[in-house]
Amino acid sequence: MKVALITGGAKGIGKAIAERLKINGLKVIIWDIIEPKTDISFMKVDITSFSEVKEAAKAAGDIDILINNAGITCDKLLLRMKEEDWDKVISVNLKGVFNCTHTFLPGMIRKRWGRIVNISSVIGLIGNAGQSNYAASKAGIIGFTKSIAREVASRNITCNAIAPGYIATEMTEKLPQEVKEVYLKSIPLKRAGTSGDVASLVSFLISDGASYITGQTINLDGGMVM
Ligand SMILES: NC(=O)c1ccc[n+]([C@@H]2O[C@H](COP(=O)([O-])OP(=O)(O)OC[C@H]3O[C@@H](n4cnc5c(N)ncnc54)[C@H](O)[C@@H]3O)[C@@H](O)[C@H]2O)c1
Repeated sequence: MKVALITGGAKGIGKAIAERLKINGLKVIIWDIIEPKTDISFMKVDITSFSEVKEAAKAAGDIDILINNAGITCDKLLLRMKEEDWDKVISVNLKGVFNCTHTFLPGMIRKRWGRIVNISSVIGLIGNAGQSNYAASKAGIIGFTKSIAREVASRNITCNAIAPGYIATEMTEKLPQEVKEVYLKSIPLKRAGTSGDVASLVSFLISDGASYITGQTINLDGGMVM
């Protein structure tokens, strides 16, 4: 049975991915800093800490599929942004992806099989006023994804990114109503995406049917960015 690890799987998109992969018959492990309300195997891990990730990985064992999903926002116009607002977002969204990929890649290389899916954002492609830290982290994930895809393609490991648009979760729930309306107007399919939409794309990217896809960033945004 293949083992999938999802970071930030306690709620939102990560939880939907974890539940879907479990239904698909995988052994699933969630890493998060908050405890999930689900019966899926859970470890409390702060992915920003290189040493904590290395230590927790010993208990998790070999992982076949890594879903780098954990992410945060701390929105401010640049001139109001404090150093810690920048560091916090880069640390979770980008360094966390490095820490986890660095940790689980050797096991995948040994098995000559692996799947890595990184959750980026359309904001990493088009930018957004008030989200320079978040946009930089999500654009960074795209460059990281392409580099890792090139490094390990010969080992039968694929690495892809998903760039969701506006997905209805707790993260977007806190947006002001007028911002949500502006987003909805810019979406040709005229609805917010769901966590289930993201889980469906993840299921495909880790399947045998996607074995010839690597280094790609796939927008999942109802046509918002094209
Ligand atoms: N919701 C959207 O519209 C949207 C759009 C584009 C991209 N995304 C991305 O999708 C991913 C999931 O977003 P979401 O909306 O489900 O957010 P969410 O806030 O609902 O969930 C994020 C999860 O990450 C966990 N997390 C935060 N810091 C962590 C850390 N240091 N270590 C381990 N876990 C940590 C949180 O505890 C939480 O469970 C994020 O990377 C986000 O940037 C979301």
